[in-house]
Amino acid sequence: MHVQTPLKVHYYGSVVVLLGTRDEEGRANLAPMSSAWWLGQSAMLGMGDRSKTAQNLRATRECTLNLVPSGLADAVDRLADLTAVDPVPQTKAAKGYRFEPDKFGAAGLTEVPGEATGAPRVAECPIQLECRIVAAHPFGKGCTAFEAEILQSHVDESVLVPGTAYVDPVAWDPLIMKFCDYFGEARNLRESTLAANWRMPRGRLGRAA
Ligand SMILES: Cc1cc2nc3c(=O)[nH]c(=O)nc-3n(C[C@H](O)[C@H](O)[C@H](O)COP(=O)(O)O)c2cc1C
Repeated sequence: MHVQTPLKVHYYGSVVVLLGTRDEEGRANLAPMSSAWWLGQSAMLGMGDRSKTAQNLRATRECTLNLVPSGLADAVDRLADLTAVDPVPQTKAAKGYRFEPDKFGAAGLTEVPGEATGAPRVAECPIQLECRIVAAHPFGKGCTAFEAEILQSHVDESVLVPGTAYVDPVAWDPLIMKFCDYFGEARNLRESTLAANWRMPRGRLGRAA
């Protein structure tokens, strides 16, 4: 039987991306995001307008999309309540966000320079896509859908079908965000700071809120 209920969250499960950007002064930023989808050689990226990342995308019109393997769930979660916006917007401060100018250091991840763009890449991510932002569409309430054209792909051989330009879907085990919780290897991987701060009900995860 279906019940009619106004769902509060519609995050049904999508890959986690670490979005690398720079501000106008060249300072690197890194933000976890999961509202991303791909078609052909383009990606659509949904970002809240209050994020430093959205500001950087508008200012420099370039970024890297670093696809996160399930083994990096801890590193992603270390960024979950950080923003490079100073002062932290009140709505975010109320959800536990803190200002952090050095996201790479905070995550314990290694910055590698881009080749096709000035945006920073994440060495630990086996798939790194350098992109140019070609359009920005207002989306929902206070969000923007940034259209990114992929200029250059850096792929670790370990996730490729040998001798081809195709990713092996068995070798590639993405970190998935599903209703604010982390999944990979088809199981829940760890407690999620975002889920705790958003006071998400635990349901079948069976943990205390
Ligand atoms: C796993 C994960 C996925 C997220 N997905 C998104 C997203 O798709 N869009 C978005 O605007 N924020 C998303 N966030 C929240 C941003 O990372 C957060 O707003 C962060 O403060 C942005 O950093 P910045 O202000 O330094 O850019 C996500 C956070 C986590 C932990």
